[in-house]
Amino acid sequence: MRVLLTGGAGFIGSHIALLLLERGYDVLIFDSFANSSSNVIKRIENFLDNKALKYKLRVINGDIRDKKILESIFSKCVKENKPIEVVIHLAGVKSVVESLTNPLYYWDVNVSGTLNLLLTMKEHQCYSLVFSSSATIYGLSSYVPILEEQKISPITPYGQTKVAVENLFYDLYKSNVNLWKICSLRYFNPVGAHPSGLIGEDPKGIPNNLFPFITQVAIGRQKTLSIYGDDWETKDGSGIRDYIHIIDLAEGHLSSIDYLNTSESCLEFINLGSGKGYSVFQIIRQFELSTGCRIPFSIESRRDGDVAVSYADISKAKRLLSWTPKRSLEQMCLDGWNWQMKNPNGYG
Ligand code: WQD
Repeated sequence: MRVLLTGGAGFIGSHIALLLLERGYDVLIFDSFANSSSNVIKRIENFLDNKALKYKLRVINGDIRDKKILESIFSKCVKENKPIEVVIHLAGVKSVVESLTNPLYYWDVNVSGTLNLLLTMKEHQCYSLVFSSSATIYGLSSYVPILEEQKISPITPYGQTKVAVENLFYDLYKSNVNLWKICSLRYFNPVGAHPSGLIGEDPKGIPNNLFPFITQVAIGRQKTLSIYGDDWETKDGSGIRDYIHIIDLAEGHLSSIDYLNTSESCLEFINLGSGKGYSVFQIIRQFELSTGCRIPFSIESRRDGDVAVSYADISKAKRLLSWTPKRSLEQMCLDGWNWQMKNPNGYG
């Protein structure tokens, strides 16, 4: 089966690509490399020592807002008699902080880009889609663990774009309930790396997210971790989040494809998290314990767009996808550190 993986060279996409190829899928990575390195492709190919698997990977450089290039990809696959049967759509921009100062860019890439993709999929009778949504859409959630039915109240433009796309899915599905098969996966906080250390998280510039910032402090690329507030309404005052191992998250995408393949038409919104909440101080302590590194930190003021507590109820993913996260927080720290140690400057 041929899968189009948009944003497939990114942190999440590259891990999904690896699992798809290992499972024998034909994978088309479509990526603008705006927030990823083309070196990751070589890493994936090196990992696939089985040549046959290597020839199941094709990479196309392009921007999701370019409908022409999307059309050419789909029609070329039809001409090759290997049409795209499922799309995993990750291409987008994802910094909460950046979206606050550049909302137009976020709406253009995340919403117009997805619109382009859906129009092209429809034109080529491709109706199966797994989408990268985000827990950030829950905003100031009134209770935890968070259920999918919970009130959606995004507090940043980034979150608004994810909600807009989910609403688009709803309209699309309602327009013909016998056609589209869509899983919108609401990611919590994906961290860690493939245990080989060949691929991992390599944010451009100074990391926005906690985990890559910690591994860069550990390797000496950053001096001190700034903790954004120790006065949150939590037991130790620091923010609580649901961290999920990147491989568990990637496996959730393959389970979603299996689910779509066995379903008639469907539209499902599904949390993908560990179902556990850990505070910033707990993450620092676990990382130091697991790796032996010290993480110096300073307490700074709260960051715009942050919430105190967010962690998932994952019972729907377990029930619908027969999926459950297997890797511990310690494994997330060990695998994340293994990647950073082997790649002090990321993909270089
Ligand atoms: C985690 C905790 C911070 C950095 C983000 C975005 C979005 C989503 C998941 C895709 C919070 C604290 C962080 C730092 C800190 N991905 N922190 N110092 O904000 O929960 O979610 O990632 O949709 O990209 O919503 O993740 O890692 O930025 O923050 O103290 O230098 O760590 O305040 O409590 P977040 P994060």
